[in-house]
This record gives sequence, C-alpha cells and structure tokens, in this order.
Amino acid sequence: MTPRIQRVCCIGAGHVGGPTSTVMAAQCPDIQFAVVDSDAARIAAWNSDTLPIYEPGLAEIVGRQRGRNLCFSTDIDAAVGEADLVLLAVNTPLGQPGGHGLGGPTDLRSVEACARVVARAARRSAIVVEKSTVPCRTGELIARTLRHYGPADAEFQVLSNPEFLSEGTAVRDLLQPDRVIIGGLAGSEDAQEALRALYARWVPAERIVTMGMWSAELTKLASNALLAQRVSSINAVSAVCEAVGADIADVARGCGMDSRIGSEFLRPSIGFGGSCFYKDLMGLVWLSESLGLHDVAEYWDQVLRMNDAQTARFVRRIARALGPDLDGAQIAILGFAYKAGTSDTRNTPAALVCKQLLARGARLAVYDPKVPEQQICDRLATTSLADQQLRVCADAYEAMAGARAVLVLTPWAEFADIDWARAHRLMVQPALTVDGHRILDDRALEQLGFHVISVGVHSSLADDKGGL
Ligand code: NAD
Ligand code: UGA
Repeated sequence: MTPRIQRVCCIGAGHVGGPTSTVMAAQCPDIQFAVVDSDAARIAAWNSDTLPIYEPGLAEIVGRQRGRNLCFSTDIDAAVGEADLVLLAVNTPLGQPGGHGLGGPTDLRSVEACARVVARAARRSAIVVEKSTVPCRTGELIARTLRHYGPADAEFQVLSNPEFLSEGTAVRDLLQPDRVIIGGLAGSEDAQEALRALYARWVPAERIVTMGMWSAELTKLASNALLAQRVSSINAVSAVCEAVGADIADVARGCGMDSRIGSEFLRPSIGFGGSCFYKDLMGLVWLSESLGLHDVAEYWDQVLRMNDAQTARFVRRIARALGPDLDGAQIAILGFAYKAGTSDTRNTPAALVCKQLLARGARLAVYDPKVPEQQICDRLATTSLADQQLRVCADAYEAMAGARAVLVLTPWAEFADIDWARAHRLMVQPALTVDGHRILDDRALEQLGFHVISVGVHSSLADDKGGL
C-alpha cells in the first residue's frame, strides 16, 4: 500500500535543503515541512528576514510558508521522529585522498551520521531519501546503517532522489524541473510511488522518472560530469580561437545551432567553479579508478585539467598585456561569485585569478553585487597580503577609479550596462578591459579607446600571433 505523506523532515538547511523544502511546502500546503540543521546560526538566519543564501524569489516563498507548513529548527531528533519522509540534504564534500592517485573520495560522514539519527529517532516505517549527491551504492550504506542502528522491527525504505537545481535559478528549477529522478531498490515500489505522487502535484507525469537506485545515483554524477565536460570543451575551443584569430562567440553559436549539439553550456569562461562540478568530477574519477577503470578515470580527469589550464591561461594573458611584474598596479575586479545570480564563492575561479594577481604585487579593487565584503576577504586571505593590496568597493565605478585594467570575472548582466565612457575617464590610460566571460561589446570598448582582451578572441597584447 502506498504510504501517506503528512510530515516531511529535511536534514540539511543549505543551498539544496532550504530551497527544495520551501518549494515543496508551497506546492503541498497540507503537508508539514521541518528543515533541520546542526548549524544554529544557519537556522536562525532561515528564521530571520535575512536568509542565509541568496536565491531570486526564495525569500518571498519562505515568507509565505514559514509558520504555516514550513519551519526551521535545530531540534533534529524531534523533527525526524515525527516524519513519514526524511530528506537527507547534507553536504558531501571531497574527502581526503589516499591509495590510488586520480580523483578524490566523497566524504560521506554527514550522510552516515544522519542515517544513524534516523535509525535512532525515526518512525519505524519512514522513507529515507538521498537528496545529497553521492557515489554509487551509497543507498546500500544508508540501508545498512538503518538496519544496524534501528529497531529490529523497523521497515525503512531508502530512495535516491538527486537534486539538479542550479544556484541562482533554484526556485525556477524546482518549480519547473526538466526531470525528477526517483531511484529505489527492489521492494521499494510503494515508497517510490509515494514520492512520485508528492512531485506529481506540480511536475508533469512524463517528467517524473523512476529507475533503479544505482542508476539514479549515477545519473546525478554523470549529469554534472557531462555539463562540466561541455564547459571544458568550449573553453578548449576558445584557446584555439585565441591562437588562430577565430571568435569563440561565432564558433559557439555556429556549433550550438546544430540541434544535436544544442546551445546550452557553450559559454566560454575563465573556467567552471562552484561547490559541485569539481568535487563530483573528482568523485567520478575516484569511483572509476576504484572500479579498475583507469582509462575512464583519466578521461574525466582531463575535464578537470582543462579547467585548470583555462584559468591559468587567462592569468598568463593578463600578465603578457600588463607585464609580469604588477607591483603596485591597481586592477579593478568586477564579479567574485562563481557565477551570476548567486552570492556563493565556493571554488570561484575569480579567487584563483585574484590570488595570482596579488602574488604578483597588484592592488585589487573588487566589486560584486551580491558577495559580502567579509566573504571576499576570507576567500583571498593569504599571509603575504600587503597593506592596501585588497579593497572591496561599493560599486563598479569606485573599483575602476584609478585602475589600469578592469577584469570581468563573473558574468553579472549589470556589467554589460556599465557607462563605459565614464569608466574610461576614471581609469589610468591606456586603460585595459579583460572580459573573462565574453559579455562586453569589444568593438564599442575599442571605439571608446580601451585596449581589449576577451576570452576566446585573439589579442595582439596578450597572444603571440593571430592567424596561422
Ligand atoms: P550546504 O553546505 O549549503 O548545506 C549542507 C547543510 O548540511 C549545512 O547547513 C550543514 O550544517 C548541514 N549538515 C551537515 N551535516 C549535518 C548533520 N550531521 N546534521 C545536521 N545538519 C548537517 O550544501 P548544499 O550546497 O546544500 O549541498 C548539499 C548536497 O546537495 C551536496 O551533496 C551537494 O553535492 C548536493 N547538491 C548541491 C547543489 C547546489 O547547487 N549547491 C545542487 C544539487 C545538489
Ligand atoms: C550545476 C548544475 O548545472 C546543476 O544541474 C547541479 O544540480 C549543480 O551543479 C550541483 O550539483 O550542484 P551550478 O554549479 O549551480 O549547477 O551552476 P552552473 O550553471 O552549472 O555553472 C557551473 C559553473 O560553470 C559556473 O562557474 C559557470 O560560470 C560555469 N559555466 C556554465 C560556464 O563557464 N559556461 C557555461 O556555458 C555554463
């Protein structure tokens, strides 16, 4: 018989647990959602007017649901004890490598700790759902932990329901997902049906796909690997463009118009960042190695190496244009988040670029519309930082005043709308723009008198030669 879901508990009030539970609560007003976390400051922020994460549209929905069918709490045992369905949305960071060389293991300690809490505190017939991204067969670890620590007569069902939201568009992705994947072991059909019915309240039936547990777990890792691979592929092509005098914008458009290729995820950049692509690829490489699939591990490892090379080449081009010794040179940095639409700076390529420029003696004036000052300082904290080397600015013009060069490191739309004539007047001449995301109008900038470097476009300032 399909179990009836009346109370849901989500362990982990982060970038996934918070938005996912909030949107589910809005779509299922008759179900109570408790989001719990061991981080009391985070829970306090969810209960305040300043949410711990920025996502467009999220604060409004939290405001509507909180106190109705959505609550945030640190009382994990109590919320787990009342729930028919427990979502595990805790972080699964990269663990410490050891043993074989490539990739890195996933640290599953938080997942395992949660499974023990569920075993101890949950009802005897709860459904336990992996929302965190995990290596294949983690479901087995959870099921085993539940069996080992739970009461002998408990009938826990474990499902995999990986999350595919992107930061910055989380609410839209959750309301209109391309697909919802529900994986389960043999015998979990009723539990799968209960979760399917919950999503079916707002997701069209044909977009809800049920499959085996290991397939669901692998679908998540493979999706991120394929997306990251596309970014590395277009960035590899951008390097060729810079060398031969082609334009990556034209090449990407030309390739993307082939319906078999498609235009998404072909934006050239200074490399991909964020909390997941890197660690999930490392996890896939590690998994492949541990299965003895060395060629497969090397294949995916190359996606990571290409990403590192892209960021390194970007810095080399700047050094060629400005000279390797940047002692005292003021450089404006526009954008610090790992992508537009978020305040998240985990693995942001902007930090890598900034650190290298600081190490060469540059003075940086950084502006990001969403990232708080302290977060920028923390990410760039380095013992060798001299006085006045780092300044966080309130707007783009403040950052550009007195600068020799301005670098666009996050593709915030507002940077394309800057009054570049005013910026040119504020900067030291000859002023240089360096566009790491190809969002500025190079020709208009050149007409204003800027020297211009763009990712994926030849520049006589930054590259050896144009054309073959
Ligand atoms: P996060 O770091 O933002 O949040 C995780 C939360 O879990 C933290 O608040 C932490 O305090 C809490 N937590 C950890 N261990 C706990 C425990 N034992 N008990 C209670 N609370 C605990 O992480 P996130 O970005 O939300 O990612 C969570 C998972 O979802 C990861 O596996 C990630 O790979 C995956 N994922 C993330 C995204 C994304 O956009 N960030 C998208 C899809 C999937
Ligand atoms: C990514 C996936 O898109 C989500 O489906 C997945 O759920 C999530 O990871 C996760 O598992 O955490 P996210 O990291 O939020 O989402 O952001 P993306 O839009 O995928 O961008 C990732 C990075 O790639 C960013 O640094 C972005 O600037 C870069 N990127 C993306 C490019 O350089 N070019 C592109 O064309 C697209």
